[in-house]
Amino acid sequence: GGAGHVEDYDFSFEGPFGTYDTNQLQRGLQIYTEVCAACHGLKQVPLRTLADEGGPNLPADQVRAYAADNFSVYDPELDEDRPAKPTDHFPENNNAGAPDLSLMAKARAGFHGPYGLGLNQMFKGMGGAEYIASLLAGYTGETKEEAGTTFYENTAFPGGWISMAPPLSDEQVEFIDGAPNDVESLSKDVAAFLMWTAEPKMMARKQAGFVGVLFLTLLSVLLYLTNKRLWAPHK
Ligand code: HEM
Repeated sequence: GGAGHVEDYDFSFEGPFGTYDTNQLQRGLQIYTEVCAACHGLKQVPLRTLADEGGPNLPADQVRAYAADNFSVYDPELDEDRPAKPTDHFPENNNAGAPDLSLMAKARAGFHGPYGLGLNQMFKGMGGAEYIASLLAGYTGETKEEAGTTFYENTAFPGGWISMAPPLSDEQVEFIDGAPNDVESLSKDVAAFLMWTAEPKMMARKQAGFVGVLFLTLLSVLLYLTNKRLWAPHK
């Protein structure tokens, strides 16, 4: 308990070989679209990336339909709004004064310390997704009014009181595959989706890192053997 508490949820993308769970990203996209998009934009995210392998991996025709059905954008050439296309970004949203969520999972850290050493982050990860999931699942139900604004008590939000009303409730979003839709499951799914928006190339990065380590290991072995052979006559 207490403000600033972040639950160490297990996500599929953790660890050196972790990968995004395509179905979870698709559920997270649905939650974002049906709930969060009312207040939060994702202006840094190109809609076409919804088709990316290693991301939500939607078929191209579904991305086109998704863009056109859900968003419209101002087109300066037509001088009017038109349905969004895959080449557009998700729109921004400044209606409710809510921050853009494109990079939120990297802008927040769930784990800190101890004593500024960053050891918790080394063992548990930065915790951006855990922070978002804990925030969404962390409402106590208490409210207070201050200067005409309602604040909601939250166990994850620093300071303990946030001006965002609890956005999720049990069974608020229905999934076609019947996946669990209690508040905690919804929170984790949308947090995973926001981790992907913030770091869409995570899987490629981890793979490149692994290949790099493999190469360097092999190089070390060859250099060791070369060194031995070069010095053998002098021993
Ligand atoms: C803030 C996520 C739905 C309004 C935030 C923050 C996150 C977030 C991560 C930043 C918290 C921080 O600064 O550390 C989400 C998600 C949603 C959702 C994932 C959908 C499940 C909504 C909705 C509204 C809203 C529907 C409006 C009715 C706000 C506002 C803030 C905020 C006003 C600023 C709060 C403050 O700084 O006190 N949200 N949100 N959000 N959100 Fe949402």
